[in-house]
Amino acid sequence: MEFLTPDKTHDESRQGEALVLEPVEKNNGRKLYIESYGCAMNFSDSEIVASILAEKGFETTSDYNNADVVFINTCSIRENAETRVRNRLKEFAGAKGKNPGMVVGVLGCMAERLKSKFLEEEKLVDVVVGPDAYRDLPNLIDRVDEGQRAVNVLLSREETYADISPVRLNSNGINAFVSIMRGCDNMCSFCVVPFTRGRERSRDPHSIVAECQDLFDKGYREVTLLGQNVDSYKWNASQLADGSEQSAEDLGEAADVVNFANLLEMVALIHPDLRVRFSTSHPKDITDEVLYTIAKYDNICNYIHLPVQSGNSRILELMNRTYDRAWYMERVDAIRRIIPDCAISTDIITGFCTETEEEHNDTLTMMDYVQYDYAYMFMYSERPGTLAAKRYADDIPEPIKAMRLKQVVAKQQQYSYVRLQQHLGRVERVLIEGYSKKSDKDYCGRNDKNAMVVFPVQEGYKPGQYANVLVERCTTATLIGKII
Ligand code: 5AD
Ligand code: SF4
Repeated sequence: MEFLTPDKTHDESRQGEALVLEPVEKNNGRKLYIESYGCAMNFSDSEIVASILAEKGFETTSDYNNADVVFINTCSIRENAETRVRNRLKEFAGAKGKNPGMVVGVLGCMAERLKSKFLEEEKLVDVVVGPDAYRDLPNLIDRVDEGQRAVNVLLSREETYADISPVRLNSNGINAFVSIMRGCDNMCSFCVVPFTRGRERSRDPHSIVAECQDLFDKGYREVTLLGQNVDSYKWNASQLADGSEQSAEDLGEAADVVNFANLLEMVALIHPDLRVRFSTSHPKDITDEVLYTIAKYDNICNYIHLPVQSGNSRILELMNRTYDRAWYMERVDAIRRIIPDCAISTDIITGFCTETEEEHNDTLTMMDYVQYDYAYMFMYSERPGTLAAKRYADDIPEPIKAMRLKQVVAKQQQYSYVRLQQHLGRVERVLIEGYSKKSDKDYCGRNDKNAMVVFPVQEGYKPGQYANVLVERCTTATLIGKII
């Protein structure tokens, strides 16, 4: 069981969304269907894939039965994510039975580990491509057209797709994800990401600012800067586009370093009406400099996703999170001190290897301490190849993991409501994102703390504009009010 909030940024369970874009100019007559699973980074990658293939004349379609190329961009963070993808591939195999020319491919995080299974044993797919090999897709599709099976799962130390301007798929024209780095060097013991996405590398800040500026010019009003650990973003001016280094001497000047606080500032300065969000922060790396930068700019949202995973220091050590309970609490204190009105969300894992009842209680008391606005909560799921799988037995029985999850979820529901209620009677600046799901007489949008706000449509206000909304009441997940 997973508890989910309406926020899509960290919602790892997003599944099966078919992504469609505008018709392409140099149409090759072939249609691409691409379905994405997992985190925002995967959805952002699908936009890069669509851009690479649009260059070659592929149009997208929302119906895989009409497609010539069917891609599924996969997630392997937990076992259930993998199961869902496998079931979906079987359905695609059915469609391919009726249309033998169809190319079916697996992209993303499952590619490396399951390539031989998918390609050879189960013969479910024609092409398997890892997250750093998307530039190779046109060649790989050509190879499949010639009757071969094609695979490229090489991970790179340099690839950031910096020069590719992603095609915005299924976009509302208001919010966009912008990838600022790839990979992860942290090696949390439960996590498969360092193996599926490779080493951490940061993207050239100028290409990031140019992409955000372009989005703003096209009418977008919110960008979310994405990375597995945005606080370790670091760009050296002596870094060349190909990832190699040039010495400061070659450059004739000392190398300039851009860190995450600098990058946030560069993006915030594009325009005061461009909201800047970011995800994910790491408790060991989030600096006061970042917090002061958030406090300094009104358009950098007061919202930090700060995964705790566990509230117990021994478990955090086993998880290789490199901070302990006291350190995490100190970082939360710093957030509260420097940005007094800041929403904090988190990720929590229940039933990690050897976790005792008392240690689980430390997670519950951590939740009391922080009073998170949102949380994404999971039972521990052992992933093959991770440090935890190699070192520790997955020894907490499933019913206990589930019971602990239930307690964590119940507590979070309580605090989510408490935090929402704190908005009552306040005037919130809301970026209007569209009509509410329930009625086209209401608009919906979010305040800078990422709370969803619903209010009656008023003449003179359109999606993409900001409105000052007086919050009058709330449900468990939504604020309700009126424009003033
Ligand atoms: N089991 C359960 N949850 C996991 N996560 C990552 N790996 C696992 C795993 N093996 C969760 C963490 C992480 C979020 C993206 O997914 O909480 O922060
Ligand atoms: Fe996984 Fe830890 Fe990296 Fe997050 S920081 S992607 S949990 S290894």
